[in-house]
Amino acid sequence: MSKKSDWLIPLGLILLCLVPILGGAVRIGELAGNKSITPQNARFFTAPSVVITHVVCSLVYGVLGAFQFSRGFRRRCMQWHRRVGTLLIAFGLLSALTGLWMTQFFPHVATDGPALYSIRLVVGIVMAACHIFAIVAIREKNFRQHGTWMMRGYALGMGAGTQVFTHLPWVIAFGSPPTDWERDIAMAAGWLINALVVEWFIWRKALNRSFLAAQH
Ligand code: HEM
Repeated sequence: MSKKSDWLIPLGLILLCLVPILGGAVRIGELAGNKSITPQNARFFTAPSVVITHVVCSLVYGVLGAFQFSRGFRRRCMQWHRRVGTLLIAFGLLSALTGLWMTQFFPHVATDGPALYSIRLVVGIVMAACHIFAIVAIREKNFRQHGTWMMRGYALGMGAGTQVFTHLPWVIAFGSPPTDWERDIAMAAGWLINALVVEWFIWRKALNRSFLAAQH
């Protein structure tokens, strides 16, 4: 890889997935082993296959998806980019759909606030829709549009990583993670930050393109 950004971007995105990867691995270990069921983890034991599908798809999506953002890697390994891209659509859709399933069927958690259910519904539906629009765009051979929808979907998915940082101020200030409304705000902020960053990135790319077109 020649340019610094070719490996810095994937590395940064993989680091962002690190805490969800660890959390997911612990949860799968708990479900696979003979760990005792407690009021805190009981909901996960009611649908282990959904939880395991969610965690595995989300984590593969996060890690493999990170390499799609390296321009150098993309150019050198176009076949890989296409094959993995197809897989990522399936993983991204499964991540969003299983997330929606848990949102709908898991009981309300005492530490969640009143808005988290609706926020998760919106995020899950928009994330799934981004992948469907990406499929439509690729079928129409509109590669730019396809990339834009995949970026939007991935940014929402990576909200799980950004949420680690949006929870951090509470942990530092009060010694424990936020609960109730404060938790809803921290969760929503993670998704919102990523959505804003990706829209800024898409806007900047479009601006660069129109600048280059004006020069020719
Ligand atoms: C690629 C992105 C995603 C990653 C990396 C991810 C990661 C995880 C992990 C590791 C867990 C297990 C948490 C635990 O064991 O306590 C989990 C649970 C969950 N996820 Fe995701 N997730 C992603 C996307 C989504 C989306 C888009 C939604 C929204 C619909 C969602 C909704 C949920 C719900 C409702 C739970 C159960 C939470 C609970 O009951 O405590 N996830 N996710």
